[in-house]
Amino acid sequence: MKRVELFKSFKCRLEQNRSGESRPSVTAIIVAAGKGERMESEINKQFIPLCDIPVIARTLAPFQASRTITQIIVVTRPEGIVETAGVVHEFGFDKVVRIVRGGPTRQQSATAGLAAAGNTDFIAIHDGARPLVTPACIDRVVQKAFETKAATAAVRLKDTVKISDDQQNVVSTPDRSSMWSVQTPQVFETEIYRRALEKAKSDELDYTDDCQLIENAGGIVRLVEGEYANIKITTRDDIPIAEAILRARGEA
Ligand code: CTP
Ligand code: MG
Repeated sequence: MKRVELFKSFKCRLEQNRSGESRPSVTAIIVAAGKGERMESEINKQFIPLCDIPVIARTLAPFQASRTITQIIVVTRPEGIVETAGVVHEFGFDKVVRIVRGGPTRQQSATAGLAAAGNTDFIAIHDGARPLVTPACIDRVVQKAFETKAATAAVRLKDTVKISDDQQNVVSTPDRSSMWSVQTPQVFETEIYRRALEKAKSDELDYTDDCQLIENAGGIVRLVEGEYANIKITTRDDIPIAEAILRARGEA
């Protein structure tokens, strides 16, 4: 898909979604300030092209198109701010209100994003490295969070999981039917999320998963069916997989 076509297809969906009815405001915080060390790439993984379009543009497009997302904040490394602003401008992502610098850990990057969010009813945290999320998945998680105050995308595990000892001997087999693999977006009522971040900081805990913040603060997070295709681009192997998914969807 050419750059201009990506822009047009999402712009069209956005216009259908501006129905004018009032609903809670939801700020998406796209955390994209990691080093991408496991990618072992010269360019930061946020800017690696997937079928010609950079990861961060692929990630932003479904948030731009989502009918439940009000505005978007992108958290990036200081050296990525200009390039991110270029992507936002090129693709016409007009829901992006701020691009802010992240911190040394994901939790600190999320904190920076929240500080830039202003007054908003809900926060939707999403990994910049999950470019295959769909507007439908985003909207499902947001709608559930409107009911429960905290919800995350997740998929049921397909593989059986084993717990091992330090010799790699199997110790036990947990019941697969209650096991999920957690994804993003993760959506929280803003005050619950703010307090959970503050508590983790004062407890000197640093999580890479925002649900754990809520769990640590005694809250309950509801799991919502995500999508198996909503993979996180982590190592080089993930790039051909992501491109195959895009081709299968007709988004290449
Ligand atoms: N992230 C962030 N700030 C950090 C660390 C991570 O905003 N200090 C973001 C990443 O940019 C990514 C998401 O959190 O979109 C999930 O993290 P991960 O996949 O681990 O990305 P990196 O930390 O960049 O990769 P690595 O762990 O391989 O260095
Ligand atoms: Mg990381």
